[in-house]
Amino acid sequence: MTVSTLFPAIRMRRMRRDDFSRRLMRENHLTVDNLIYPVFVTEGQQQRQPIDAMPGQVRFSLDELLKEAEIWARLGIPALALFPVVPSEKKSLEATEAWNPQGLVQRSVRALKQAVPELGIITDVALDPFTTHGQDGLIDASGYVVNDDTVAALVKQALSHAAAGADVIAPSDMMDGRIGQIRLALESHGYVNTRIMAYSAKYASSFYGPFRDAVGSAGALGQGNKYSYQMDPANSDEAIREVALDIQEGADMVMVKPGLPYLDIVRRVKTELGVPTFAYQVSGEYAMVKAAAQHGWLNETAIMLESLLCFRRAGADGILTYFAVQAAEALRKT
Ligand code: PBG
Repeated sequence: MTVSTLFPAIRMRRMRRDDFSRRLMRENHLTVDNLIYPVFVTEGQQQRQPIDAMPGQVRFSLDELLKEAEIWARLGIPALALFPVVPSEKKSLEATEAWNPQGLVQRSVRALKQAVPELGIITDVALDPFTTHGQDGLIDASGYVVNDDTVAALVKQALSHAAAGADVIAPSDMMDGRIGQIRLALESHGYVNTRIMAYSAKYASSFYGPFRDAVGSAGALGQGNKYSYQMDPANSDEAIREVALDIQEGADMVMVKPGLPYLDIVRRVKTELGVPTFAYQVSGEYAMVKAAAQHGWLNETAIMLESLLCFRRAGADGILTYFAVQAAEALRKT
């Protein structure tokens, strides 16, 4: 066995001894600028319906959402990601409600941009809230999600969001070619500054369970799965191809989803492609932290801030997280 001759010239612990030197050598930082808050919006008034598997998160009716949005903007949160809870009578095989100019998302975007113009509004482009079967696209007789007809529907949905004033369109459907088609349509309709945040590397994950309950697509999906379009959790090179394609087709930002278990993908995307890279700490990840904290098994605030910092270290420019408000408040105090 050889003993290092560098010791004691090098003692790694020296720099860790005091707060000042720890701060000086800190490589990554988490700030409120890195936080995007995903929120659920439902029909009705004065609604704040709790979501069982997501303690602390609710489905807001638009009037309540507007009140909170001002508070979140004042906290410094840059943007919200909107997810609609669609009543079953508005769901159909064709998902036409998705591009209704008077739909819940479209109305919410208009109201939010009017009330809190400085808050960025991100809308989800995918058909699952609007289909009777809970799939993200249109299906054929065998139940297979057909690509090109779905893309045509997604283009209509994206245009209706842009028309309502959405700042960022975020396609989460994983159809082939949708970024290019949406970009072309936005350009040809004059929406040249509408940003696209592509859910490029979206995995077929079991971590989405609580979200599907929150938006009510779980029941519709039943025993169905999304394996024919969302990515296999076993794959990494494929994620790089997906991201590269979306960038080539006109995405401004890309996303990896879920978050913590997929930080290796975040790092590869950032290193190999050097593009604005986002990660989604999804509903199941949030539920795990909340559950452990409720049992007194983990320190919630510490785990929240540590996990969000880890996204930054992995290369994420920003994080979509249900902890956004709680983290913004905690960061104010530190
Ligand atoms: C729908 C969509 C999902 C999520 C965001 N957009 C669920 C899914 O793909 O089934 C999941 C978010 C979360 O779990 O927090 N296209």
